[in-house]
Amino acid sequence: MNGALNLVLIGYMGTGKSTIGRRCAHALGYTFRDTDRIVEIDAGMSVADVFATRGEEGFRRLEAMAIRRVASFRRTVVATGGGAVLRPSNVRELQRRGVIVLLDVAPSEIVARVSRSSKRPLLEGAEDRTTRVMEMLDARKDAYESAADVVVSTTGLSVAEASDLVLLAFREFVAKMDQRGNRP
Ligand code: S3P
Repeated sequence: MNGALNLVLIGYMGTGKSTIGRRCAHALGYTFRDTDRIVEIDAGMSVADVFATRGEEGFRRLEAMAIRRVASFRRTVVATGGGAVLRPSNVRELQRRGVIVLLDVAPSEIVARVSRSSKRPLLEGAEDRTTRVMEMLDARKDAYESAADVVVSTTGLSVAEASDLVLLAFREFVAKMDQRGNRP
């Protein structure tokens, strides 16, 4: 069981879940899946267009379906959308066969990374993106922390350095689980 566990990356927008996830998948010889991409394929349109045509609730429904699907995979690195862990049922699904790693990045670095992104509907229309990001981080902090098996802080790190830390944390956590994959 433990050798087949998924590595699930959670965290706010702009924390590098997809970039780091792809790199970790390569290092582990695992498949990589990004739940936003699955939603886009299922809906036949971009995440921004799903929000525009079906609203956030419509997006969350598709996201929950994507999560249910990837949660049944093995040896997969899963990059989730930043709001995926807001639904407790998503967290339970992801925990079934996965170790959940929270990518923690200083708010100032997040703001710098997402400040010019046009792909993030929840930040569109915000008068001040910094304030919006800070408010969302604050509102989500508990959900991120309680969903996480491990927290990896990657502020100021390169993608390569951050990926190495994630791999280390994943391997250490798996080593502490029992044969049946129960959490320490
Ligand atoms: C969201 C984050 C986005 C995407 C959607 C909603 C969120 O993913 O799922 O725009 O609620 O934080 P990224 O974290 O990959 O940007």
